[in-house]
Amino acid sequence: MVKGLFVTLEGGEGAGKSTLARSLQADLKAAGYEVIVTREPGGTPGAEEIRQLLVEGKTDRWSAMTEALLFYAARNDHVEKAIRPALDRGAIVISDRFADSTLAYQGAAGGISMDRLRQLHTLVLGEFQPDLTLLIDIPPELGIDRTQARLGLEIRFESKEMEFHRRLRACYHQLAELAPERIETLDGTASPDDVAMAAIMAVRRRLPE
Ligand SMILES: Nc1ncnc2c1ncn2[C@@H]1O[C@H](COP(=O)(O)OP(=O)(O)O)[C@@H](O)[C@H]1O
Ligand SMILES: [Mg+2]
Repeated sequence: MVKGLFVTLEGGEGAGKSTLARSLQADLKAAGYEVIVTREPGGTPGAEEIRQLLVEGKTDRWSAMTEALLFYAARNDHVEKAIRPALDRGAIVISDRFADSTLAYQGAAGGISMDRLRQLHTLVLGEFQPDLTLLIDIPPELGIDRTQARLGLEIRFESKEMEFHRRLRACYHQLAELAPERIETLDGTASPDDVAMAAIMAVRRRLPE
């Protein structure tokens, strides 16, 4: 079976994930690939409904475990109905966030043990993992500063205290150290063009000639 490439974008709020998703899509499409850009939580109609529960409302609306279960309900729908079918067609799938976000947000920053979250992942998705994860690393103060310019209701996570965002970043660093063959760290303080260039090189290294 032909298999595509599953790329995920990770990092804190305002790191530049959505910006990078757009430039990767443009570059890879121009090179003739079928590219699907999607996001978490969300990516399918059912998962987008669950997204509303997660990104709106009070910061303390859910406990970390309830949140993790909602994320995995949404993620399972996303993988079943959008990601796997696209990969089976041979497409490049770029997801703005995926399972590492659960490890960072509900795990390191939210207090659930990594072990329990890994068990949850295996229970729901087995061995399914991204082929490549681009971690956009940025000091949380700068990332949050960047998000202040955007308007809307989806500020439940952005509104958490700075200590939460610092723990997130430390966790992402740790995940990158544990899985260097999958996770590539990009300097999020670089210009959008430079971030995109580094990302495109990392993706192309993983594409067949
Ligand atoms: N490398 C960059 N340098 C400066 N500003 C950036 C960069 N990447 C994104 N931005 C800007 O920062 C804000 C947040 O970017 P966004 O891509 O929405 O981040 P995320 O999706 O990671 O939260 C946007 O206004 C975007 O234009
Ligand atoms: Mg975004």
